[in-house]
Amino acid sequence: MHAVPPLEQDIADTTVAASPAQAAPQNSATPASSSGAHASGLATSGAPVRDLRRVGIHPDYWYPLAWSHEVKRGKTHGVTFAGDPIVLARTEGGKVFALEDRCAHRQVPLHQGVVDGESIRCGYHGWTYDCSGKCIDVPYLGRERLPNGVRSYPCQEVEGLIFVFPGDAALAEQRPLPGLGSVSDPKYKTRRFGRPVKCHYSFMHENLMDMNHQFLHRRQMGQMRARSLGRRHGDGWVEVDYTFARMAGQQPLGEAIVFGQNRKTGGHNDKDVMTIRTEYPYQTLQIRNADQTLVMDLWIVYVPLDREQRTNRTFGLLSIRKPGIPGVMNLAWPLLVWFTERIFKEDREIVEAEQRAHDSQGADWNHEVFPVINDLRALLREYGAPDQVVGVGTGDTAVIRFWDSRQGNPLAKT
Ligand code: FES
Ligand SMILES: [Fe+2]
Repeated sequence: MHAVPPLEQDIADTTVAASPAQAAPQNSATPASSSGAHASGLATSGAPVRDLRRVGIHPDYWYPLAWSHEVKRGKTHGVTFAGDPIVLARTEGGKVFALEDRCAHRQVPLHQGVVDGESIRCGYHGWTYDCSGKCIDVPYLGRERLPNGVRSYPCQEVEGLIFVFPGDAALAEQRPLPGLGSVSDPKYKTRRFGRPVKCHYSFMHENLMDMNHQFLHRRQMGQMRARSLGRRHGDGWVEVDYTFARMAGQQPLGEAIVFGQNRKTGGHNDKDVMTIRTEYPYQTLQIRNADQTLVMDLWIVYVPLDREQRTNRTFGLLSIRKPGIPGVMNLAWPLLVWFTERIFKEDREIVEAEQRAHDSQGADWNHEVFPVINDLRALLREYGAPDQVVGVGTGDTAVIRFWDSRQGNPLAKT
């Protein structure tokens, strides 16, 4: 039988990462250190730390819960955030609001009800809630004796995404919406993509930031080698720069569309620089060419759907800078979609395999040796929900958050 190894690789040290000017190039093949301890600087304890795959995502941020087109005028749309049911509704006037998807009367989902003017009418007895969650009508009682309402969530619609603030609503105003890359810049064409992936969100962050997994994509990309140029971190963020060299084979056309140029074969370094950044809880990937032109700009987030946080829905905005000749991008777009879908499928299958391995082992056995990934892991632990344990076998499925709609406060997490 295989004993569970200690998480010695997850014991943080106090090394402070270099500033951009100081960051020394590091070879991707070089282990973090001979001791296996990571160079994080993000946590200072010498004690073993939490299993990252059991850290709940922090709810006090803005998360997209749907694409705009999924919430039609005059309709409701049921979603979840980490197991909490939320109904999104769009009035005939086009305004979107978000409420707890649970009628205060008998807790049936409000998304089974109907939008009535600026409110939602439950499909069972017709109790009606305005956009603040207040009950404004009980058809058989009249408006004099109105009962409790339901919880409402701060909600904003930006660039085709409906963002909800699932945590403490009092913090929503001071927490800005994230920047969404180049999506609003007419010099770029943006692909909106995403689907559910059956893994903890941390596997997604690691997968995108760790470009040493090019081997996985060898059938799509040929033989590419990533070289890390250096890493940086600060409050709430970690980032790393890479260059790539093609070791053999020809550049695939789909990749050429993304990069906008042909990369030569032969192992010499390319001039393109890719910067990948996790700024909690979001992630970006940018590619700049030798002229410092931003040729690709990806913004992405992984939103846990279930209470155990073993499935996330990915929302991605992939912006590609349009070439000089008008129309070329539209012609090439289907190929880009096909190419990126194939890459995404490979990534999805591998992170789901990681999750299955974690769950069957019952703990995180990772032997991570790449410094920036250890930085990232420390960041996700530090900024995750401090007291929440998620995952199979934690008993977390029994966690129910009760909401006192009269007081507007959570009653209990039990
Ligand atoms: S369950 Fe909603 S009105 Fe009765
Ligand atoms: Fe990948």
